[in-house]
Amino acid sequence: MKIDQPHIIKEGSTEFKLGELKNGYIQYNFNSIITYLEAKGKMMFGERFKIYKDDQEILYKLCCYFIQDETICRKFGIDIHKGILLTGPVGCGKTSLMRLLKYMVPHQRAYEVIPSRNIVFSFNNIGYATIEQFGNSKFFCFDDLGVEPTGRYFGKDCNVLGEVLLSRYDLFLASRMKTHATTNLNAEELEERYGNRVRSRMRQIFNLISFNAKSKDKRG
Ligand SMILES: Nc1ncnc2c1ncn2[C@@H]1O[C@H](COP(=O)(O)OP(=O)(O)O)[C@@H](O)[C@H]1O
Ligand SMILES: [Mg+2]
Repeated sequence: MKIDQPHIIKEGSTEFKLGELKNGYIQYNFNSIITYLEAKGKMMFGERFKIYKDDQEILYKLCCYFIQDETICRKFGIDIHKGILLTGPVGCGKTSLMRLLKYMVPHQRAYEVIPSRNIVFSFNNIGYATIEQFGNSKFFCFDDLGVEPTGRYFGKDCNVLGEVLLSRYDLFLASRMKTHATTNLNAEELEERYGNRVRSRMRQIFNLISFNAKSKDKRG
């Protein structure tokens, strides 16, 4: 699919212009992106959805990443070639944002947001093919990483997402395929859950982007 004007997005009869074309480049406008995200968010999650003032800073970083603005990202210490590990307290809106943000860049490869626990359930049913399915290809966002149960197949325990992440690291090295994830856990808790080896590989494939620890729970 070739999109000539990926910064112009149609939703029903409404057209959203996320920026201007200048010399063959798109100059995105952050306020226009926010307007679009709020409208699209309402369509996806209901009228209550809004972009909170307190979240503008993290959204600015995420938007710069999603439009792959290398210069600004570098200032934030974000590597545009790695994926995003979005962390923050329960209910602050991580899952919603990851589901929403891909729509602002329709010209880019889309990722599938998948609950980490579902991957474990699949493993419990079909075993190690699940590790291959989620580890060896495609672009995923593993949602709620770290709180999924331990996998068990034919009496053998397996840290399923740990194994998947090791495979994703190899995949990243081999083909630059990215991985995103969301989590409520901090670095120490992730290390406790997956061990030092996985944790150090996570640093290689993810940019850590964090909601403020005091970020409001948005569940109504
Ligand atoms: N920006 C927002 N405005 C209004 N409601 C929101 C917003 N973000 C999330 N929500 C709602 O808050 C709840 C928690 O959001 P969710 O994305 O699941 O948070 P998290 O993944 O961080 O736990 C959901 O019911 C969601 O619809
Ligand atoms: Mg979530």
